[in-house]
Amino acid sequence: MPTPVPTAPGQAKLYDRLGGKPAITAVVDAFVANVAADTRINKFFANTDIPTLKMHLVNQIGQATGGPEKYTGRDMKTAHAGMMITKAHFDALVEDLVKALDQFKVPEREKNELLGLLGPMEKDIVTA
Ligand code: HEM
Repeated sequence: MPTPVPTAPGQAKLYDRLGGKPAITAVVDAFVANVAADTRINKFFANTDIPTLKMHLVNQIGQATGGPEKYTGRDMKTAHAGMMITKAHFDALVEDLVKALDQFKVPEREKNELLGLLGPMEKDIVTA
């Protein structure tokens, strides 16, 4: 897990600037719907329990952005091991996330901060 973004005194945490758990949940719902419709990558999720995945994503993003949630899933290397995920797959998934953030009109700054937290996970996820 990345270290949560440090928050300067007097500046709201990314978690709160995003709109807290309800907003993060809404973005994750839209993100997963985008992935499910994305023929470049949806086959990876054919046997995945989607409600559990969404729960993990909400907790992961909540924790990483300074919220009270606790991520209880596997580390990114273990969770994606053996899937032969390429950089193109990774970029497709990020595109689906950006689309979800745009659907909810998340401002550029918050969008970039969130992507900045997730981007470094690429090295543990892309294995092909
Ligand atoms: C920054 C990018 C990504 C993040 C933050 C992320 C996050 C997660 C999380 C939190 C889980 C749940 C772990 C668990 O069950 O313990 C998960 C599972 C999974 N991820 Fe990712 N992921 C990313 C990229 C990708 C990509 C690019 C693919 C494939 C295109 C992918 C495919 C999967 C699949 C198939 C599962 C479910 C595994 C299962 O059913 O047990 N992920 N991911």
